[in-house]
Amino acid sequence: MFAPSSTIAAVVGFAVFAASPVSAGVAAPARGPWAGSVDMEGACKLEYGNDWTAVEGSNAYNWSCRRPSTGQTASIDVNGYCSKTYHNGAYADPQGGGKYDWGCYFP
Ligand SMILES: *[C@@H]1O[C@H](CO)[C@@H](O)[C@H](O)[C@H]1NC(C)=O
Repeated sequence: MFAPSSTIAAVVGFAVFAASPVSAGVAAPARGPWAGSVDMEGACKLEYGNDWTAVEGSNAYNWSCRRPSTGQTASIDVNGYCSKTYHNGAYADPQGGGKYDWGCYFP
């Protein structure tokens, strides 16, 4: 008879759950170095022309551009302002979302 030469050592054991701290320190979203501030008035003029002006929003997201002579309104391309003003792929970040929180950053 061929007895099983090895007994299956059922290593049951008790799983030791080391209370591993689930890494809580999640890093803030990566953001490149500061490129410069955003001038909304300048952004409207840059994009549409010198006879345009910025209309203040109540938060970071609802500024707009306006041309007083015609009453036209248009959106502000803040990313475009950053890249055209600071170059090297600079982009806009609304930071805290407040109306003056916009900033330009490099990638
Ligand atoms: C901007 O958005 C806020 C919140 O949605 C709103 O209360 C406010 O009236 C808006 N302001 C402008 C200028 O559109």
